[in-house]
Amino acid sequence: MKILIVGGGIAGLRAALTASRFAEVSVLTKGKIGETATEKAQGGIAAAIDQIKDSTEYHFEDTLVAGAGLCDERAVRVLVEEGVDRVRELIEMGAQFDRAETEAGGGFALALEGAHKHRRILHAGDSTGLEIEKTLAGRVMAEKKVKIFQQTVSLDFLMENGRAAGVIALDLNSDTFKTFPADAVILATGGVCQIYLYTTNPLFATGDGVAMAYRAGCVLTDMEFVQFHPTSLVHSKEFEDLIALPQFLISEAVRGEGGRLLNQKGERFVPELAPRDVVSRAIFDEMRKEKTDHVFLSLSSLDAEQIINRFPLIYKTCRERGLDITRDPIPVAPAAHYFMGGIKTDIEAKTNIPGIFAAGECASTGVHGANRLASNSLLEGLVFGHRAALAAKSQKTNNNSQTIQKFKDPKPKLKPNEIQRYKLIIKTAMWNGTGIIRSKESLTSVLHKLEMIEKDLSFDPNSAEEIEVKNMLLVARLITRAALDREESRGAHYRSDFPLPDDLNWKRHLVYKVSR
Ligand code: SIN
Repeated sequence: MKILIVGGGIAGLRAALTASRFAEVSVLTKGKIGETATEKAQGGIAAAIDQIKDSTEYHFEDTLVAGAGLCDERAVRVLVEEGVDRVRELIEMGAQFDRAETEAGGGFALALEGAHKHRRILHAGDSTGLEIEKTLAGRVMAEKKVKIFQQTVSLDFLMENGRAAGVIALDLNSDTFKTFPADAVILATGGVCQIYLYTTNPLFATGDGVAMAYRAGCVLTDMEFVQFHPTSLVHSKEFEDLIALPQFLISEAVRGEGGRLLNQKGERFVPELAPRDVVSRAIFDEMRKEKTDHVFLSLSSLDAEQIINRFPLIYKTCRERGLDITRDPIPVAPAAHYFMGGIKTDIEAKTNIPGIFAAGECASTGVHGANRLASNSLLEGLVFGHRAALAAKSQKTNNNSQTIQKFKDPKPKLKPNEIQRYKLIIKTAMWNGTGIIRSKESLTSVLHKLEMIEKDLSFDPNSAEEIEVKNMLLVARLITRAALDREESRGAHYRSDFPLPDDLNWKRHLVYKVSR
């Protein structure tokens, strides 16, 4: 059987390794292999590996508390329990996590992050995602069982009799659309946060998998829940040309090791390890009060050697931008970071459409509820990537067109500067109106702007950028619609006109499906 995986981050590669035991597997990656959000993840991967002070039960409880009443308990159970085994397999494959001479952490130096009651974050300095991506990609390459199609941008599903029979994608190497037939497709396309002006997500994170799934008839859920990371680096004026790039993340682990948030007067204003939504809103309020674009993260309680050894990437990147973090406080501000919503799946990673599975950030398995616990996302990718592959095993189509076929030559309509302009309008509107603090007024105004652009862009996309901007627009509209529908505040979704949670009416999931 043929299994097609769209996406080469942690969920996609884990799925590929499992599926290649029993199927012919192809992976489509939008960029080059390794160019993913996984690679950029700093803080680490949460797992109750310390059996003395920690347990899967504690990890389960912390995940539910962060999720603000909307986690699916069965899915969380799977995450925390199978997660320990999946992390151990990763270590057996060669992933090098930082070690410590303590019995408690099973020999690992476990970090603390916001809303975790115990130290349970395995990390590789502040480049944990890179270490994991290298390990998984290295194993995939060494096994030579998986075909990788790089620089291949998926457009839509091939559908046959109501089920997925593969994917149509734009091959950027030959500049042609091609069909990639398969018995089952696993979407592992990552996040959506490029729809925001300020985001830690790579440029690829334009919601392609979520948009494709929606067009194919998949149910989407929890679309209103976008997590804003409290601390991304704010560039000084001389580095203004970096503004088009994603914000550089200053890992939550920095606060876990004692970093302090300070306002312009040098005062603390929020408990640094409170849940991310609480810290992000406190920073946002402080910035509004002080009419500035940042607050400060001070590492003055840590000694220089500790900072350089524990956070080499952050130290080096800040240094390149004129900041010595062993002395200078870091100017930081919140940025869109993670999407809790997405393609609704069961705990086997199955969607409502036969032949379509989803894992990782594009999926909504129910493990994060209304707010993700820090460092649970890499774990989710590992656990549900593996599960998606196992579930896909049972799929078989009567697909006759089993070979890759050239489909059509693309003829783009928009010029690059026009695409950039549309993207900027979407990103600015989303940041201002569907951001950290929302209201009926702000959300209605965003919907209006997006609907106007939708009229301009009502043609079939014919380039990678056209595919992206249309997907961004669709996902932005659905997120804004859901944020308008949910008339309460919960987890990462905060409405200034409904500032409290309302369990009676809203302790439930909203779902969205294309109307045909
Ligand atoms: C971080 O290093 O702060 C990010 C970790 C995460 O998003 O879970």
